[in-house]
Amino acid sequence: MKKPRTAVASCRKQVSSQKGRKKRALSSSQTKSSTPDVLAGQVKQEETALQISVSPYHLFRDPAEVASFRKSLLCWYDQEKRDLPWRRKAEDEVDPDRRAYAVWVSEVMLQQTQVATVIDYYTRWMQKWPTLQDLANASLEEVNQLWAGLGYYSRGRRLQEGARKVVVELGGHMPRTAETLQRILPGVGRYTAGAIASIAFGKAAGVVDGNVIRVLCRVRAIGADPSSTMVSQQLWSLAQQLVDPARPGDFNQAAMELGATVCTPQRPLCSQCPVQSFCRAYQRVELKKLVASPSLPSPDVEECAPNTGQCLLCAPPTEPWDQTLGVANFPRKASRRPPREECSATCVLEQPGAPGGARILLVQRPNSGLLAGLWEFPSVIVEPSAQGQCHRQALLQELQAWAGPLPEAHLQHLGQVVHIFSHIKLTYQVYGLALDGQTPVTITPPGARWLTREDFHTAAVSTAMKKAPPLFCFPRCIPCI
Ligand code: ADE
Repeated sequence: MKKPRTAVASCRKQVSSQKGRKKRALSSSQTKSSTPDVLAGQVKQEETALQISVSPYHLFRDPAEVASFRKSLLCWYDQEKRDLPWRRKAEDEVDPDRRAYAVWVSEVMLQQTQVATVIDYYTRWMQKWPTLQDLANASLEEVNQLWAGLGYYSRGRRLQEGARKVVVELGGHMPRTAETLQRILPGVGRYTAGAIASIAFGKAAGVVDGNVIRVLCRVRAIGADPSSTMVSQQLWSLAQQLVDPARPGDFNQAAMELGATVCTPQRPLCSQCPVQSFCRAYQRVELKKLVASPSLPSPDVEECAPNTGQCLLCAPPTEPWDQTLGVANFPRKASRRPPREECSATCVLEQPGAPGGARILLVQRPNSGLLAGLWEFPSVIVEPSAQGQCHRQALLQELQAWAGPLPEAHLQHLGQVVHIFSHIKLTYQVYGLALDGQTPVTITPPGARWLTREDFHTAAVSTAMKKAPPLFCFPRCIPCI
């Protein structure tokens, strides 16, 4: 079959034709005058232009300033750090591979999830699989089951794939540097690699996560879009410059802790900040206050000619300063695309009179894609604009494929549940169908299971599906009994 022309393919084409143009442009200038010296001079000029476009105002120029920043942050961390189970493990565990495993699990769980939520998941995970070997021997079903509710299910799966790789291919030994961790282990990106290398192995690798982005953007008044490649490179470079080679793991955790507890997205607690004296955002807020009262002497505060459009790390002139936000003018909010709207019709098919108690049908999702391998009520994707009759037809077809002929008239609409995934807003139209008074369905084709209410709650079922139960108080209120 002919492959459709995808957006990616046409985008690649654009990139390669741009490359071609650049090559041609270079060779034409070469034919005019260029000697290798001239070309080297051109490259140097480009490099210098890049450096000039990032004002030193946004950088740490002085090693003494860096040392002082590290000292203030670490001092604060030593006094204020939260007692968290993975920190205790990282401190107490003497075996480096076990230590790295303990850090790895925590860092993967902490991506996009609050510390308070992670604590319970982490404790259960480490009880069930205390070592890499234990995790390598687990089934994907068990991993999904424990992960259920944490979201981003592929992270759990890849953690287990990584553990298998370490056990089977690396003799149970974790790679020891940020570079090798990232290169060898599935699902380990730059952030996780830096976190494991610094916290578990004491390597001087900087990290940049959402909290660190906020802290650095404020400390260095970076108002340009932090999700852009150029700003992101600058942030990684700053993190690498700042990380304390004597205590890299503590330094990185201190920066994240500061972002989580003091330098918060809204209402940051600047008066409690250990690095307030380094903070250009704070200085700018103070400056604006003074400028607003002309009777006060004009302060001696360095500025970066903001809003002139000259500096690549400053906010563009189209983004004016918001007086009400204070330091929270940084970082600049990335303009997000709204999530894609999708709709799914789903049905709670129940057998109230099943031997041994009421049961509901769950089917397994495919092994790749959204919510891979998780269990759900039989579902079909429908057009968001589709009407009830269309849902019913599609659903009945799906249900009959799993459970054979059904009393179609019993299918009733129970309500709707909306779940936002990172990039999709999925509306579930929830239906119910009770096989009351029927001969219970006994066959379960592969990929289907009849579960009791208790089993449903502990199964590898996504949060989105678990939101549906309050709706299905029909006709015997099975899950709500
Ligand atoms: N967020 C992610 N990892 C963290 C850590 N180790 N300490 C504090 N906050 C974090």
